[in-house]
Amino acid sequence: MDATTPLFSPDISSIAILSDIHGNIRALDAILDDITGQKVDAVACNGDLITSSAHAEAVVKRIRSLGIPTTRGNHERYLVELSDPEHIKWKQDNWAPIQYDYHMLNAGDRQWLCDLPETMWLCNGSSPLVMTHAAPGNDTGRVTAQFSEQDWANIFTDLPHRSTLVGSHLHWFWQHRWQHYHFIRTPSAGLPLDGDTRAGYIILHRTEQGWQAEQRRLSYDLEGELATFRQSDYYHKGGVIAHLFWEELRTARWWIVPFFAHLRRESAFAATMPGYTSGYSHAEMTSALKTFNRTLTPEYHPGALSISS
Ligand SMILES: [Fe+2]
Repeated sequence: MDATTPLFSPDISSIAILSDIHGNIRALDAILDDITGQKVDAVACNGDLITSSAHAEAVVKRIRSLGIPTTRGNHERYLVELSDPEHIKWKQDNWAPIQYDYHMLNAGDRQWLCDLPETMWLCNGSSPLVMTHAAPGNDTGRVTAQFSEQDWANIFTDLPHRSTLVGSHLHWFWQHRWQHYHFIRTPSAGLPLDGDTRAGYIILHRTEQGWQAEQRRLSYDLEGELATFRQSDYYHKGGVIAHLFWEELRTARWWIVPFFAHLRRESAFAATMPGYTSGYSHAEMTSALKTFNRTLTPEYHPGALSISS
């Protein structure tokens, strides 16, 4: 990471950071309104603008039009991989929502998303501040309370003394101090998975002790977002995964991960697959959905390291 060219001046004292909007334009607009009232010095976005709700195009246009500095999340990387003829995973039946967004975005917006940087150096000085979607060098890395000393050492290995690293990806606000470093995970703007359906973001405030995180949660028109999602082509063409995204939006709970766990138990075919979220047909997914009862599954959360995606 290049520490010599931070995005923001070392004098700024507050930064709003949002992430994981996932196509939810109503949640994004509620957050942008709130940020306006908070009078922060800067705003940044930590990836995953698209998929999961029906308004990816509007979200991308809003973020681009405001010139908000943005990193690339794993969902933007999927667009890069869909463009690659050698890459198969996202072209399979069960990932129809990702294919839908790929085709709905215009070429300029799609290229903008594909070209976003994986990491952004936000501030230097006495409290360096770095932002990356999940973990350095790994946009699906899970930084959790189960980390060993070695795991933490690996996360901060390239960062200077007293750095704060902002990550996202798990849709659940959390922070942890390790030695003289600080890790802060943002909540999700548009698809919270911590049981609280309100839109979330953070404001970082500079203090003598470094950056302090304030989590903000906002009620917004969730019912309206659910209704237009349900009526959209995205829902009707997105198959089982779009249905599960809708349930995640409705409940702020994990549905896709427990569904795939159920599918793996139900399917002899699944046991032969190297990656358990790939290779299923529409018929197999639809059949498994009929026998899937979310209330009987364990309460998945980011602390449960046995889950994978
Ligand atoms: Fe995400």
